[in-house]
Amino acid sequence: MTSSIMGLFDDVVDDQALNNTVDRFREREIALPTFAQLADPSTMPAGVMDALAGVGPDDPDPRNLWRVNWYNDASRTGRTDVPAYLEIPSELSGVDAKILLALGNKFPMIRAHKVLAAYACLAPRIVTGAFDPTTHRAVWPSTGNYARGGVAISRIMGCRGMAVLPEGMSQERFDWLNEWTSGPEDIIRTTGTESNVKEIYDACNELAKDSTNVILNQFSEFANHLGHYFVTGRALEHIYEAAGGGNLVSFVSASGSGGTIAAGDYLKERHGSRIVAVEALECPTMLYNGYGEHNIQGIGDKHIPLIQNVMNTDDVVAISDQATDTLLLLFNTEAGKQYLVSQGLDATFVDQLQHLGFSSIANMLAAIKVAKLHNYGAGDVIVTVATDGFELYRSEVDKITSRDHPGGFDDMAAAAAYARFIEGVDTDHTVDLGAIGRNRIFNLGYYTWVEQQGVDFDSFEARRSQSFWTDLHGHVTRWDDQIAEFNHRTGVSVD
Ligand SMILES: Cc1ncc(COP(=O)(O)O)c(C=O)c1O
Repeated sequence: MTSSIMGLFDDVVDDQALNNTVDRFREREIALPTFAQLADPSTMPAGVMDALAGVGPDDPDPRNLWRVNWYNDASRTGRTDVPAYLEIPSELSGVDAKILLALGNKFPMIRAHKVLAAYACLAPRIVTGAFDPTTHRAVWPSTGNYARGGVAISRIMGCRGMAVLPEGMSQERFDWLNEWTSGPEDIIRTTGTESNVKEIYDACNELAKDSTNVILNQFSEFANHLGHYFVTGRALEHIYEAAGGGNLVSFVSASGSGGTIAAGDYLKERHGSRIVAVEALECPTMLYNGYGEHNIQGIGDKHIPLIQNVMNTDDVVAISDQATDTLLLLFNTEAGKQYLVSQGLDATFVDQLQHLGFSSIANMLAAIKVAKLHNYGAGDVIVTVATDGFELYRSEVDKITSRDHPGGFDDMAAAAAYARFIEGVDTDHTVDLGAIGRNRIFNLGYYTWVEQQGVDFDSFEARRSQSFWTDLHGHVTRWDDQIAEFNHRTGVSVD
């Protein structure tokens, strides 16, 4: 497999490009954080918080690179000792197992953790001369948040970025892109919605014919996997420890590019927890080799990403977008919130449910399903992530209300939503994967990667073995050394 498909650059590939980049970063005073610093911000130089003092979390300022981690506080300007998280009370989940959701909407610029994946993919290229900001354009294909993360990261790193995403994604995503890109020519809208990834690949293959376009394909960039393995993995472990420990039985993650789920590899290695992949019931590719349209934006793209360590996955759970659409209303309308409080839930907790976007709600429901499936009880802990929050989906409220509740989402509708989608969570549409299940899902990736995208067969197959994945970890140490060396060359520091 070529490093340009995998994104695994270790040695300097182009001295001239690297020199140009050093000059550009010196000129614009851009210092890069290492992966180790993002995983544990307490190891960042003491001057970072002072340097960030006058910088808003959504400003296009290179110093925001230091906020690309899980430890931003509620105002997103300061830093917390433990990443922000929400504990789902048993009154809501109906199970005794503890469910902990890490909150991704504290990340800078895009209010979603995908900005971390974007940094993880671009930084190694920057420090090895594989991306020259004076000549290249970074192309970020995605169903939304990664493209926004990529555009944000390229812009604050003095690089030109271009988003490629389906035309059917939420209006909030396009509004944001209009503000952050250099012009409409840097937003490519492909046909379809969430699950139309093949159309995105086709657009990227077309763009790749121009050698000044560098495609940072999150589905095949192993740095996406590695960034989440080290940075998200450690953050989730920290949350689990701070919440009192216990048996860390499962990590639950809706899968889009298959990046976030890599945190499960980290947790499994240290705590033996199971890895649970979540997808939309309307597009059950892993569960039933199925396909279809759905509205759980950010996940379920009708194919198996190259960077997803499928052979390490233990369960697959499908959640219907009817549930996520309806619960978005229950959690974020007055009628819904009042109903939840009337059921005995604490009003402060109910207010916190605004931190859950569609895929976050899917993760929460999948965690409840898994607890029921495996009879998890008191002392058992499930960790999962809320990639983004309601703020990215406000425009969906009217759409869903007029489609499903033409008379308005009132208390009757709230009661019905609660009974059906919260109390009614069952263990349907789940599978405990054995070797046959894992191999079945792994094999499905062949059609995308070997047949369609030209990945060589041996490299594709190598991923079946766990040693392939553990061998990847050394890249991060190497990149961290190169990042330190790069900062040394630019002379820019945040001390
Ligand atoms: C809202 C949302 N949830 C979940 C995911 C899935 O994360 P990953 O791509 O790391 O699998 C994404 C990815 O873009 C997303 O935008």
